[in-house]
Amino acid sequence: MTTIAIANSKGGVGKSTLAVQIAGEKARQGRDVLVINGDRQKSSELALLNRAQSDDFPPITCVRYEHGPELLAAHRAMKGKYDDIVIDVGGRDSSAMRAALAVCDVALVPFAPGSFEVWALEEMDELLRNALSTRDPFPVYALLNLAEAKAQSADNSDALSALDEYPVYQQLPFVMVRRKPFASAAGQGLSVHEVRPKNPKACYELDKLMQVLDGRPAYEVADSLDPVDGGTDVA
Ligand SMILES: Nc1ncnc2c1ncn2[C@@H]1O[C@H](COP(=O)(O)OP(=O)(O)O)[C@@H](O)[C@H]1O
Ligand SMILES: [Mg+2]
Repeated sequence: MTTIAIANSKGGVGKSTLAVQIAGEKARQGRDVLVINGDRQKSSELALLNRAQSDDFPPITCVRYEHGPELLAAHRAMKGKYDDIVIDVGGRDSSAMRAALAVCDVALVPFAPGSFEVWALEEMDELLRNALSTRDPFPVYALLNLAEAKAQSADNSDALSALDEYPVYQQLPFVMVRRKPFASAAGQGLSVHEVRPKNPKACYELDKLMQVLDGRPAYEVADSLDPVDGGTDVA
């Protein structure tokens, strides 16, 4: 059983989008997945309700606990019953975020290009270091999401270089580009592999993320160049 916390105190960086992508992929692989929505925003919960309208996709259970103690109790009670638990948490001083960081096996911190988004890395750095000071170590992967599609984007490289200041993060050697298929699939509660027609670039980026979450060392996963066309389109 693996618990993945998808956490950032900043909203709008893609936590819920990625929670749905990851949960969808795990479910597609035949795993029994629980999503805990620990955010006041109900995005992942509403998206997974849409998923549940159809029999075409393996089901994903979703519950919402906004408060840390409830989230901890629910996690303790349910961890033996699921193959994977994905926790979607935001909020600056959220007790749910602290709870998620107390129980996770791995943390994924999505962040987006832009100053406000990058500043949130500092706030998360403190929360993460606090969590790590009280428990067994766990990997913290920082993923640039909503990246520009241009291979030589200055905004992307500025955001990535901000990570250098915070050793708590392991930088992933790829990015997730802002692509409509991520947004539209996630809205339906689906991974980009589950929608038709498939967008090969979005699928390729998600595959790399899943490899890392499956425990493959990040340095073994290919870089951000897209084999389809060098990653230069704006799908
Ligand atoms: N890789 C992506 N490509 C395109 N749109 C994205 C991507 N990631 C997130 N979005 C969109 O950005 C917005 C914020 O994403 P969301 O997952 O709700 O963020 P958070 O949960 O961190 O607040 C949503 O409109 C979502 O559809
Ligand atoms: Mg959200």
